[in-house]
Amino acid sequence: MAISLHNSTSISRVGFASPFLGSNSASKVSISVSLPSFSNLSFKSVETSRQQLYRISAMSKAESSSSDQVKVDISLSPRVNSVKPSKTVAITDHATALAQAGVPVIRLAAGEPDFDTPAIIAEAGINAIREGYTRYSPNAGTLELRTAICHKLKEENGISYTPDQIVVSNGAKQSILQAVLAVCSPGDEVIIPAPYWVSYPEMARLADATPVVLPTLISDNFLLDPELLESNITEKSRLLILCSPSNPTGSVYPKKLLEKIAEIVAKHPRLLVLLNSLKSQTCYVDTQSLSFFAFAMTGWRLGYIAGPKNFIAACNKIQSQSTSGASSIAQKAGVAALGLGFAGGEVVSTMVKAFRERRDFLVKSFGELEGVKISEPQGAFYLFIDFSSYYGIEVEGFGKIENSESLCRYLLDEGQVALVPGDAFGDDSCIRISYAASLTTLQASFERIKKALISLRPAVPV
Ligand SMILES: Cc1ncc(COP(=O)(O)O)c(C=O)c1O
Repeated sequence: MAISLHNSTSISRVGFASPFLGSNSASKVSISVSLPSFSNLSFKSVETSRQQLYRISAMSKAESSSSDQVKVDISLSPRVNSVKPSKTVAITDHATALAQAGVPVIRLAAGEPDFDTPAIIAEAGINAIREGYTRYSPNAGTLELRTAICHKLKEENGISYTPDQIVVSNGAKQSILQAVLAVCSPGDEVIIPAPYWVSYPEMARLADATPVVLPTLISDNFLLDPELLESNITEKSRLLILCSPSNPTGSVYPKKLLEKIAEIVAKHPRLLVLLNSLKSQTCYVDTQSLSFFAFAMTGWRLGYIAGPKNFIAACNKIQSQSTSGASSIAQKAGVAALGLGFAGGEVVSTMVKAFRERRDFLVKSFGELEGVKISEPQGAFYLFIDFSSYYGIEVEGFGKIENSESLCRYLLDEGQVALVPGDAFGDDSCIRISYAASLTTLQASFERIKKALISLRPAVPV
């Protein structure tokens, strides 16, 4: 992954675990603290009379029936309750369960490249273990890797960073969450264009901030309208999150549009921009930015953020109190990946070529289907197709197709193809198809989807 955090002057880059089983004996435990120069203090001594009453009544209840258990409060924090679980994970798990039960499901819900990590990168990881790079690394990442990242950002993106402006984490997700936590205060607004990557609004909520979702249009290639942005900026706006190439649409922000957005953002000193460019190397257009994602390294759990020193220091601090540094082995593999040459050299261009071929096949095939709207992706490996003309149709033995979720269920039941409902990304009219699968698999999936859709007949021809 590659993430950049920028201030408004430039957009060039931006419990305890316990079984919770109260027992009678536990309720009788009194806690005391020994301090060397003081007499023993008991927590009881600072209890209010109300707490004492409560304790006495709890103890007498416990004594009255030895089989009773003291009820433990198992409620969760409001912060966790406000967060929704990831729908992409739920669907992938469901499809996996079906496949394990013997149903020949084709899974096009995956959010990662279908290629293996290139051998040269994997070898670097194996050598790291053999050579003893198996201890903690510096919290922000090894200097070797951070220097390589700076070099890449300069060469491929023309942006100068120093190693103290980089934090390497266990993947992009952690980098983004840390950035959101580092800059947002309770009540701040995080502006997120929809369709969005599923985790952005939930990360805003985890930071006690409010996600402000701005819709985009398929006819605008799902790109944010600068005027809409401008009219939604308030004094509470703290962060604008842009994803390019986008998950789930594959759209890429052209430079001109980024410049327009930068002009608007520059008028608001409190507003920062977080640019998530995870899959930039999979771009079919002329933008380059390296991420470990593009090297098919998702399981290595490696990502980084680049930005102004004070924000990066804050991200570093959060990381130091949560996970510490990324895996030392993965970092050695990361150095090898960055050493493959401009934009990942031949290794990555081979993967991009395959993605382009698959995209072209799917865009052409779905484009010829009745009742669908499509925008050609410029990067990543997703198609976000508007199937809403199929909503409202009653299917015998299935029920009504009401929305993206029921259409996905129908396509899984009828066509045995697993896709992700657009609802998960904040746009219920669409469905995400991941083309991280071989061309042969995609051809078979298209035939299955087509057959299942044809039997529905579009309600409203588009
Ligand atoms: C846009 C985007 N950001 C972040 C992530 C998570 O990346 P990582 O696996 O590096 O944590 C994903 C994963 O699909 C993604 O699509």
